[in-house]
Amino acid sequence: MTDSIYKKACVIGDPIKHSRSPLIHNYWLQKYGISGEYSKEHILPSNLKQWFLQFAEQGYAGFNVTLPHKEIAYQLVECADDTAKAVGAVNTVWIENGIIHGGNTDVYGYLANLDAVLPHWEKQTSHAVIMGAGGAARGIVYGFIKRGIKKITVVNRTLEKADSLAKAFSSPLSQSTKVNASPWDDLNVILASADLLVNTTSLGMTGSAPLEIDLKCLHSAAIVSDIVYSPLETDLLRQARLCNLQTVSGLGMLLHQAVPGFEKWFGVRPEVDADLYTMIVADLNR
Ligand code: ATR
Repeated sequence: MTDSIYKKACVIGDPIKHSRSPLIHNYWLQKYGISGEYSKEHILPSNLKQWFLQFAEQGYAGFNVTLPHKEIAYQLVECADDTAKAVGAVNTVWIENGIIHGGNTDVYGYLANLDAVLPHWEKQTSHAVIMGAGGAARGIVYGFIKRGIKKITVVNRTLEKADSLAKAFSSPLSQSTKVNASPWDDLNVILASADLLVNTTSLGMTGSAPLEIDLKCLHSAAIVSDIVYSPLETDLLRQARLCNLQTVSGLGMLLHQAVPGFEKWFGVRPEVDADLYTMIVADLNR
């Protein structure tokens, strides 16, 4: 059901120009005939606290949070959901019963995309290998634990970061999951037993250094996913495709993470459909 009250939401960040969130949400507003708008707000770190005090007065039902504000936003919300607590970062803010709530839908987005592209992925994944140990990796470790994946290995250039990520999830949440840390140099050995490989580093992104990896060590039924979505097919995914491995690209995560926020602000659970996908791909290729 839609109503005629004009509703507003936005994405905040610094910088913010690059954000594709307005394209996604305004597509859905139009598709579902909802009266409202979704905009970009350039908020500097020094203005973030003030923004939290004033967004509702400015007529916003809520907002998305992007770099570099996700961790501070977690501190500023009055009530955080379990995923935001586990990850220590908030990317979606809404008001419920007069209280500012914060959630982390990046984890949902990553998993929902995997579910959509390869519905059988969990059944064939005993060992997941995550490259990188930053905020995105933290969320995916949490998501894999929630889905009951038995073994997770975090591989990172800076081993200490992988170690502390593995330790953070060693108990009691992860009773049935073993989370290990490994140095980057061990990647080839680790890949031999991987069922699912995820890149959460910025390597391979347009303008970043390439991700140098040899996928020949992976078994033939392994899944390779990348959270980088620009380019749409990263070198990692291209190599995986040429090795006849199953691949999951990063754009779907971006689209799916937007679903829960839209529902909170605008009251309709939107669908990630083919037209939305095509529209964002066209924008990325521009
Ligand atoms: P996010 O929050 O998006 O995950 P982040 O916290 O900046 O981003 O983490 C980026 C990840 O990419 C880190 O694991 C980083 O490795 P380090 O912990 O060693 O810094 C990884 N990364 C970035 N550039 C890299 C490079 N050139 N080689 C290897 N890993 C890299």
